[in-house]
Amino acid sequence: MSKRLLSLCSLVIVFAVVVGSFAPTARAQDDLSGSLEIFSWWAGSEGPALEALIALYNEQHPNVEVINATVAGGSGVNARAVLKTRMEGGEPPDSFQVHAGQELIGTWVAADRMEDLTFLFEEQGWFEVFPEGLIDLLSTDEGIWSVPVNIHRSNVLWYNPAKLEEWGVEVPATWDDFLAVCPTLQDAGVTPLVVGEAWTVNHLWESVALGVLGAEGWNGIWTGETDLEGEEFLAVWDTFGKVLECSNFGEDNEGLPWDKATDRIADGTAAFNVMGDWAAGYMTTTLELVPGEGFGYAPAPGTDGVFMMLSDSFGLPVDAPNRDAAIAWLTLLGSKEGQDAFNPLKGSIPARIDGDVTNPELYNTYLQSAAADWAVDTIVGSLVHGAAANENFAGNFGSVVDLFTTSGAPEAAAAEFIALCESSGACGG
Ligand code: GAL
Repeated sequence: MSKRLLSLCSLVIVFAVVVGSFAPTARAQDDLSGSLEIFSWWAGSEGPALEALIALYNEQHPNVEVINATVAGGSGVNARAVLKTRMEGGEPPDSFQVHAGQELIGTWVAADRMEDLTFLFEEQGWFEVFPEGLIDLLSTDEGIWSVPVNIHRSNVLWYNPAKLEEWGVEVPATWDDFLAVCPTLQDAGVTPLVVGEAWTVNHLWESVALGVLGAEGWNGIWTGETDLEGEEFLAVWDTFGKVLECSNFGEDNEGLPWDKATDRIADGTAAFNVMGDWAAGYMTTTLELVPGEGFGYAPAPGTDGVFMMLSDSFGLPVDAPNRDAAIAWLTLLGSKEGQDAFNPLKGSIPARIDGDVTNPELYNTYLQSAAADWAVDTIVGSLVHGAAANENFAGNFGSVVDLFTTSGAPEAAAAEFIALCESSGACGG
């Protein structure tokens, strides 16, 4: 090699080394720092999916310290109260969990406390990958207010296949079928249906109502088309009362968290439970049960072909202390990578239409079946988890259920329901 060629070569090498050391790697490029406070109710057995997302975030943004601020309490009953105090006190977290729907729009959007995220949807191409109906749920004419991370199903009946066989009981297709097997289970010393603390009783109610009214009747509650004084709506309460009589309601349900109710299916002390499919997440991720073997699932009685949905999302409060880090968090939540890390552990399916749901390495048989149903079923919104009604109605609905459980009178409950419709403006008309 000539001297000239040699020095040219070394020049090229030096150049490559210098450029290489400045090459834009994800880490070197990341200029985010400080802390990022993520607020949610995913504590304890609800934690693993969120922790997987945070681990991904840590990889992408190693200089940001993530503060995982959780307030325990299923369905967010306690977290929403703490969030209210913080928002009103001018101390918002950087990002917080909220259900897609009026839960955010009717509260913090209405109060002008949220940032419009339309820019992020545009930047990330999310108009192409989130279902239009879901974007509508997150939007007002003024903007898009949160980023959805999943789709959960509310109307699922859980059971233990080996135990049902032992008791000689079939999975009930209707609430009448359930009421018919109730005495057999009671005679076997088993709780026919387990409920937990107050919100889980409301959760049962929405599946009973859907089972009795059907999708059209359910939607009609919120558009004003369902006759709330009619026979069918009274039948909802009547059936609900009979179902509760076949449950542990009033015995030991108070203070029983949803996952402890799920435990009773796993240990065979109760036969059935109606709960959202975070129960599948708990049974697969924490209890390490195999879907279809360790636990069974079916649409809640009378709701085959209908998918009662809800979606967890995160928003960006105005004055978020670390706005840039929060936007990076939201970007991860909405990404395919983020959704495929979170949902297999959570028991939900991706909100994105391009999630890897048919990959059995990621999504177990329960999740694959939920994804298949989501694609073909009639979709309706959950009341208890923020998708169907405004916050005023959803927040006060528990008092209608209380009135019913103390009075046992369908007429009184229907009248109270109508009064709440009127005061909240949630039921169309
Ligand atoms: C729901 C929420 C789910 C799960 C559940 C139990 O409201 O959407 O993700 O957390 O509560 O707490």
